[in-house]
Order: sequence, then C-alpha cells, then structure tokens
Amino acid sequence: MADLAAADEAWRALHALETPRLAELFASDPERLAKLSTRIELGEGGILFDWSKTHLDDAHLAGFEALAEAMDFSGARENLLSGGMVNASEQRAAEHTAQRGMGSEEAVALANAFHARMAALVEALHKGLFGEIRHVIHIGIGGSALGPALAVEALARHGAMVDVHVVSNVDGCALEAAFARCDPQATMLAIASKTFTTVETMTNAASALAWLETAGVADPYGRVVALTADPEKALDWRVDETRILPFAESVGGRYSLWSSIGFPVALALGWPDFAEMLGGAAAMDRHFASADGRANLPLRAAFADLLYARLRQCQTRAVFAYDERLALLPSYLQQLEMESNGKSVTAEGDPVGGPTAPVTWGGVGTDAQHAVFQLLHQGTHLVPVEFVAAVVPGDDLDEAHHRALLASCFAQGAALMQGRSSEDAARSYPGDRPSATILIDELAPASFGALIAFHEHRTFANAVLMGINPFDQFGVELGKDIARQMEQGGASFDPSTEALMRAAGLSSQE
Ligand code: F6P
Repeated sequence: MADLAAADEAWRALHALETPRLAELFASDPERLAKLSTRIELGEGGILFDWSKTHLDDAHLAGFEALAEAMDFSGARENLLSGGMVNASEQRAAEHTAQRGMGSEEAVALANAFHARMAALVEALHKGLFGEIRHVIHIGIGGSALGPALAVEALARHGAMVDVHVVSNVDGCALEAAFARCDPQATMLAIASKTFTTVETMTNAASALAWLETAGVADPYGRVVALTADPEKALDWRVDETRILPFAESVGGRYSLWSSIGFPVALALGWPDFAEMLGGAAAMDRHFASADGRANLPLRAAFADLLYARLRQCQTRAVFAYDERLALLPSYLQQLEMESNGKSVTAEGDPVGGPTAPVTWGGVGTDAQHAVFQLLHQGTHLVPVEFVAAVVPGDDLDEAHHRALLASCFAQGAALMQGRSSEDAARSYPGDRPSATILIDELAPASFGALIAFHEHRTFANAVLMGINPFDQFGVELGKDIARQMEQGGASFDPSTEALMRAAGLSSQE
C-alpha cells in the first residue's frame, strides 16, 4: 500500500535539492560513470544504458528511492508481474509479461496456447498451404499497428520471408499506397484489432476485402486472418475460426506486440526470431522483477524522467534513434508513454500532484541534427534527450557511414552537456543539457525485445511513482463519440465546427 504522506514528504525533500551542473557531477564523483552506466547481458551481446549525463546524483537517487518506497513500488511491481488487478478503472490485470512467460500460471498457459496456434498458422503460410503468399497487408491502428510496424522495420530489413505493409490511417491514401505495392493474387490480409470495432480498421478491412474481390481473387475471405481479443466479432465479420488468432483481454493495446498482434512480425522473420524477441523481453522482465532501487534500469530511467518533468518542469522529452531501422521508435514511444501516463487524476481519482507524462517527440539521427537540434542546444526549453544507437551497423556499405553515424550521436550528447562560451552571445551554448544513451551491441530480435520491454517497464515505473493508472485511456473516447454523432447526423455542435462541416460537405444544414 502506498503511504501518501510519506510520498508527499519525499517530493518535498526532492524539490529542496540543488541540481549541480553535469560537469560538476562528473568532477566531484569519479564513480559516476560506473554508477549510472550499466550493461544488461542478453546471451549474445547486450545493451548499455548510460544515464550518467542526466542530473541524477546520489541525493536525487536516494530521494527517488524514498519516493519509490513510499509509493510501494515493490508491491505494485509484484502485483503487475503476478497478474494482479493493476488496472482498477477497467477491473483487470495487465498481462503483457505473461506473453513472455512471467505472470499468473493461467495467463502464461493461455499465452503459450495462443502462441502455439499462431506459430502453426505462420508455418502453414510459409509452407504455401494458402498458395503463394508474398505480401501481407496488416490493418490496425494505435497499439495494433505501431508495434508490428516498428518491429518489422527494425528487424526485417534484410530478407523478410513475406513482405509486410502496415496500414493504419483511415485516409484512403494509406491503403491505396499498399495496394500499389502488392499483387492481390499473392496477398493476405491481417486484420488487427483488440476490439474488432475500431472504425479506421474496419473501414480499411472492408476496402481491402473489396480490392481482393475486384481483382478476381477466388475466395477473398479465405485470405483474411484476424488478430483480436474478441474472436466472436471476427466470426461475425465472416473470418473462418481457423484463421482467428486470439489474445487475452488483459493485454493492453499498446502492450500487445507480444501477442497475436505480432503475427506479421513472425511471418516476416519466422517463428524462431519472434521467439527470440519474446526471450529478449523476458530477460528485461527478469531484471525489472529482481533489481532494486537505482540498480533497476527502468526505475532509474523513471527517476530521471520525473526529475525533469516535476523538478525542472520540462514539458517534453525527445528520443532520437541513430539508426534508420528504428525510425519509428519515437512514434511507438509516443503512444506507449502519452496514452499510458497522460493523465490528470490518480488511480484513486484525485488530482495528480504535478505534471504527468511529458510530450514525447523525436526523430532519427543524423537527420534531426540538421532540423531541430538548434533548439535543443540554444533554445529556451530544457529538453531531456535520449539517444538510441547500435554498435554493429545495419548496412553493408563502407564503414565510414556507421562511424560517422555513431560519432555524430556521441558528439551531440557531449555537446549538449559541455556547451561553449563565446563573446558573441549568438554563438554561445549554455551546455548542462541532459541526455541518456542506449547503446545496443547489435539490433537483433532479442535486443529489440529487451529495448521495448525496458520502455514498457519504465512507463509503468513512472506511473507507480505518480500514483496513476497507466493501463486505461478514457481520454481517447470523446473525439470518437463526437465523430460518430457527426456521421449519424442530427446533432449540433459549436459554430466553428458546424461551419467546418458545412464547408467540407459533412453537414446538410444550410
Ligand atoms: O483509441 C485508442 C485505442 O483504443 C488504443 O488504445 C488502441 O491501441 C487503438 O485504439 C486500437 O484499438 P483496437 O486494437 O481495439 O482496434
């Protein structure tokens, strides 16, 4: 049980701390790098998590550890990892780790059974039991699209077994772009929706089916695979039972990559690689479950997140992948962090005690350096930056490419911290700007799985420390309701909205 009075006291103590400049922190503590730069081994290779260029020092770490104790972080973690009811507003557990083998016995057994079903379908497709399938159009949105899109791009650049196109937007241009790249005679449709009701997904699914029909595909429904937590709805949509891959209701959409939502990933990579991705995530789960306080990497990252969000009032945090394969990582993290922790009330329904999730944004290095880094170095906003890079290149070109890529990444972190003074104010850099670096030995299924699980647990740790429920998302409902009312007609809206509807021909009213 959280002790809210002790948590208030911990926050008071944290707010009273001074934050020395990063250069002073390094100068005053020769052990700083060893304390805040930690490798996780993953069998073959590992990942280095360097948080030493953040303002976390011993005093802040102790202060945040006191906060974690007051918020009963250990109890909350145990509750999450054992399948407890962590999502009180929706009265359910959050069982994404069960997909990787950690959870209640029943949840793990169910996940294993669903995985076996998925593996069998993947194998059947690879063996050609559905004819020659060269393309999959994966139709889903939010958590039913971002994870598969990121994973396929990160891991299947060289030699995907099947060519995957992820379509999310209801804007028909997105689906048309996929059609243009696929041969309908050799295309499978994967309809991914936890609820199997999401307007964008069901609209795109219907159009994709019509595209197959128009192209003369003999049995278009025979080309549909459904990935869903509501198999009944998929049956109603006339998907054959043998091609419905279910997953548990207790797996949240933005945490669902590990379930059947990851079907296109398994199809593109093959089942053994998908299993390795689960294994990498499981290694991070074991670390998260067993390491305490500042030694726990997701928790340590959450300490830094809150230092900037609450003690330094940073409203955003930026993630730059210095790896083209991870270009979608910032978008993935936006949903994970902002949909989970963008809340104004605690799990008990009381107003929160300070800012919650910062706005996550970012891009890919080195491109972003030539576009937005000016503000990071000299602007008035303080933006904690995170760099993600891999030691082994993803390309086969001259090693000059990768050397330049990594040197740029490390140079940016050094420059942000170091700054430069000049007599010309316009040429001065204040420095003391924080960054963290995640350096992966080699981007492979296991390291990718561990990277994503790290972020899931960091998001959860942030939520526990702030006392909020990261597993619901009621904030997305109002816009959907109003869009439905507009489609149905008869409702009236504010003058601006009415005028826009008239201008676009969405309203029959004069
Ligand atoms: O609108 C938000 C949301 O509910 C996300 O949480 C979810 O990932 C996405 O929509 C898609 O939902 P579904 O998988 O049910 O189609």
